[in-house]
Amino acid sequence: MKWAVISVNFSLLIYMFMPINSKDESVGKKNPNRLTKILPDASHLDTLLDLSHKNICCLHVDDFRLFTKLSILNLSHNQIEEFEFEVFQFNTALEQLDLSHNKLTIIRCNSLHLIKNLKTLNLSYNNFATMYICKEISLLSKLEYLGLSAVQIQKLDFINIAHRELRYVFLGIENLQEYEVGSLQLLNTSKLHITLPIYLQSPFLLHDALNTSTTLEISQITCDAYFCDYPTSALSKINKHSKVSTLILSNITMPWNEMSNVLQAVWRSSVQHLYIYTYTLVHEFVYKQKDFSNGSLKSLVIDHVIQKVFFFTPPHPLNIFSEMLVENFTFSNADITHLFCPPWPSIFRTLNLSKNRITHEIFKECDNLTALELLNLQSNRLQKISKVISMTSTMKSLKYLDLSQNIIDYDQTEKCNWTESLVFLNLSENRITTEVFACLPINVQILDLSMNQITSVSKGLEHLTFLRELNLASNHLKDIPDCHLMSRNLRVLNVDDNGIYSPSVAFYQSCQYIKTLSAGRNPFQCNCELREFTHIEKMTPGKLSGWPDSYRCKYPEDFKGVLLKDFYVFEISCNIYILLGIVLGILLVVLAIIIFSCKYFDLPWYIRMLFLWIRTKHRVKNINKHELEKGKRFHAFISYSEEDSEWVKNVLIPNLEKSDGSIKLCHHEKHFIPGKTIVENIILCVEQSFKSIFVLSPNFIQSKWCHYELHFAQHALFGKNFYNLILILLDPIPQYLIPNKYTRLKAIMKQRTYLEWPKERGKHALFWANLREAIGVNLTSDEEEDIDWDFKGAITPV
Ligand SMILES: *[C@@H]1O[C@H](CO)[C@@H](O)[C@H](O)[C@H]1NC(C)=O
Ligand SMILES: *[C@@H]1O[C@H](CO)[C@@H](O)[C@H](O)[C@H]1NC(C)=O
Ligand SMILES: *[C@@H]1O[C@H](CO)[C@@H](O)[C@H](O)[C@H]1NC(C)=O
Ligand SMILES: *[C@@H]1O[C@H](CO)[C@@H](O)[C@H](O)[C@H]1NC(C)=O
Ligand SMILES: *[C@@H]1O[C@H](CO)[C@@H](O)[C@H](O)[C@H]1NC(C)=O
Ligand SMILES: *[C@@H]1O[C@H](CO)[C@@H](O)[C@H](O)[C@H]1NC(C)=O
Ligand SMILES: *[C@@H]1O[C@H](CO)[C@@H](O)[C@H](O)[C@H]1NC(C)=O
Ligand SMILES: *[C@@H]1O[C@H](CO)[C@@H](O)[C@H](O)[C@H]1NC(C)=O
Ligand SMILES: *[C@@H]1O[C@H](CO)[C@@H](O)[C@H](O)[C@H]1NC(C)=O
Ligand SMILES: *[C@@H]1O[C@H](CO)[C@@H](O)[C@H](O)[C@H]1NC(C)=O
Ligand SMILES: *[C@@H]1O[C@H](CO)[C@@H](O)[C@H](O)[C@H]1NC(C)=O
Repeated sequence: MKWAVISVNFSLLIYMFMPINSKDESVGKKNPNRLTKILPDASHLDTLLDLSHKNICCLHVDDFRLFTKLSILNLSHNQIEEFEFEVFQFNTALEQLDLSHNKLTIIRCNSLHLIKNLKTLNLSYNNFATMYICKEISLLSKLEYLGLSAVQIQKLDFINIAHRELRYVFLGIENLQEYEVGSLQLLNTSKLHITLPIYLQSPFLLHDALNTSTTLEISQITCDAYFCDYPTSALSKINKHSKVSTLILSNITMPWNEMSNVLQAVWRSSVQHLYIYTYTLVHEFVYKQKDFSNGSLKSLVIDHVIQKVFFFTPPHPLNIFSEMLVENFTFSNADITHLFCPPWPSIFRTLNLSKNRITHEIFKECDNLTALELLNLQSNRLQKISKVISMTSTMKSLKYLDLSQNIIDYDQTEKCNWTESLVFLNLSENRITTEVFACLPINVQILDLSMNQITSVSKGLEHLTFLRELNLASNHLKDIPDCHLMSRNLRVLNVDDNGIYSPSVAFYQSCQYIKTLSAGRNPFQCNCELREFTHIEKMTPGKLSGWPDSYRCKYPEDFKGVLLKDFYVFEISCNIYILLGIVLGILLVVLAIIIFSCKYFDLPWYIRMLFLWIRTKHRVKNINKHELEKGKRFHAFISYSEEDSEWVKNVLIPNLEKSDGSIKLCHHEKHFIPGKTIVENIILCVEQSFKSIFVLSPNFIQSKWCHYELHFAQHALFGKNFYNLILILLDPIPQYLIPNKYTRLKAIMKQRTYLEWPKERGKHALFWANLREAIGVNLTSDEEEDIDWDFKGAITPV
């Protein structure tokens, strides 16, 4: 909860500058809305508020007004002295309230009924003079947990909750000084948890405790002395008629001598389950002859032993545990290296020896563990599979074997004679290699081989016909194993966190019967091959466990971190045939378009025109314009046969000499000067024009004048300035029509360097554009005066 962190920092700041315990800040007085000021409004939706260790001294009636959804409030480890339940008038949803470790002396219960949903109330470790329980508490119908503390306990204290059924009562009574006999027995609770008083050594307290609830936890038992009569003698009074059936001794310090007395007393009592948590073993650890047969105790758990004794005299004190006739025994987290074989047929059903330093010397040639069903040797120092096999070979009932977190490797043993009863084997976190598949229990159903050094699944697994779950996570597999190599009963396969980058498709066909496949956290290479894999989830939803979050691309770099779910490649980039087909298809379409264009739109003509246009542009650029433009009045002179005059006058001239006057043409009908000879006129016209346009057609060839004009133009302009000649082919001229003497014309016709008049209307625009481009030459301004008609610079610049 972000807001909480922010507010905490803020409030700490405030508290730092606030006098702790200042009386004027207490409940209901002139105290401003402090907490609500500190905690931003956004928080009012939150159900949990941890205000422990905040140095809070006082609460105001309005403080929790906004937190209408509040269900868990932790106010422990603060400086609160007085408390009124009225502060929760807006918090009817409150279920858990921890007020432990404050300085409470007064508590006003008259508003307690407001929080009628309260289940847990912890008032332990406060400064109450007596263990005061207000009568309103008994009205909280949902109350299950009550935490209290006191220096004296009287029957009267509990009168208000006497026989009111609770689930858990915690009494933090280290500092108890007075105890009235019979007080505890007024409680009606399934579990009673007391801390042992340090000073008051009243045997009555423990007697009553043993007869109050079915579950009793006694913590903080400290007897450092070599002999400590109290509390062991008091505890030893436990008998078959006591009420307690589950006894928990937590955080205890005592010599082994005293502990074995307690064990012996408990052995034949009402207690069926004994838990010893965090036991500090002091002074001595010696073998004590005790009778641990025929007890009522069914399970003994000793978890976390801190040994302060490092030497002992034979017989080994640990023998005591082998001799115990108890169904379930846990001796965990105790740093032991060994446990002896029971000297008689044991009734152990489960043996939990996890987190010790046990080696393969354990249970060597031990034939008295035939009832054992579960053996947990997790986190020990076992090394060889063969040693484990021989250790377990006589355990005829062994079903569950946990060998995880050892240093076991497969030693290529010839004898792989696992006990046939084994159905669960955990070899996780060892040094197992691929060869192990030749040496597995034949009837195993659940096999955990995760966190080992397996590189592939070889033959051998198909013989394990009952195998249901196989865990190969965190090994060095390169591919998902082929299920042909496995039993058809396999339902769960885990290959998380291996080196699988491109799972083969074969797996999918062969593993149809697998219900759950877990293959996340592998370095997937996101390419075409991987698509088959991503299809698994689409085809069988729910089959891939951890999908989609655990499945991400590792390679290539561009896709790193991308979820496989979101990874997509186009079908064509993966299928060469589709790609080829598409390329061929495109080629065919292009070809068809070209053929169609040639046939219906005369594409070659357009291309030729385009080519000419580009060439003209290029040439015009290179002309020495100044030289050219001297004395020119016209853009072009037109030469044509009389027979073509209709086209020239009606089509060519109107189109070129548009209204903008950008192009001026010289043609004999308009600009020929009377009085001069025709030849003179032609020469004048040609000389005064930049370009000469010849309209070629069979008629042109026949015309005498045209020949003359062409001849003259050839001589006047061709030579260096070939580009000043523009030829328009109005009608096709067969080669044979051109007389041999017109070698230049013949050459021109052959080279096809003419503009062809297209018959189709649609092409005309391009023809005109090309022609204009060919003519387009700027007439420089100094010649403008000579020109008798208006140019006004409207000529398209070249
Ligand atoms: C309240 O906070 C204290 C100290 O952080 C913690 O020990 C205790 O368990 C908390 N109580 C609840 C009900 O969470
Ligand atoms: C009540 O407070 C005591 C002392 O802080 C603690 O040991 C116990 O766990 C608390 N109980 C709950 C339910 O928070
Ligand atoms: C405890 O309370 C339950 C329910 O109210 C009741 O049945 C039972 O007899 C009580 N036990 C004792 C010892 O008072
Ligand atoms: C264990 O008991 C000792 C006193 O015997 C006490 O100081 C210590 O805080 C306790 N530890 C826990 C975790 O309760
Ligand atoms: C426990 O109380 C029962 C009666 O409720 C009594 O018979 C028995 O002797 C008591 N046991 C002890 C150890 O006080
Ligand atoms: C254990 O109890 C059985 C009967 O329940 C009895 O035959 C046997 O002698 C007892 N053994 C010991 C050592 O007390
Ligand atoms: C002992 O362990 C077995 C197997 O784990 C379990 O079924 C049984 O309930 C346990 N018995 C006791 C008394 O805890
Ligand atoms: C197993 O128990 C028998 C007695 O039933 C005993 O003779 C034998 O020595 C025990 N085996 C071991 C290895 O202690
Ligand atoms: C064995 O003991 C450890 C430590 O007490 C515990 O965490 C684990 O659950 C136990 N395992 C079994 C199978 O009882
Ligand atoms: C394997 O053990 C069984 C009993 O568990 C035994 O009958 C069999 O002879 C043993 N086989 C080998 C090769 O040791
Ligand atoms: C095997 O042991 C490991 C480590 O102790 C544990 O995380 C895992 O859950 C166990 N496997 C099974 C199937 O219980």
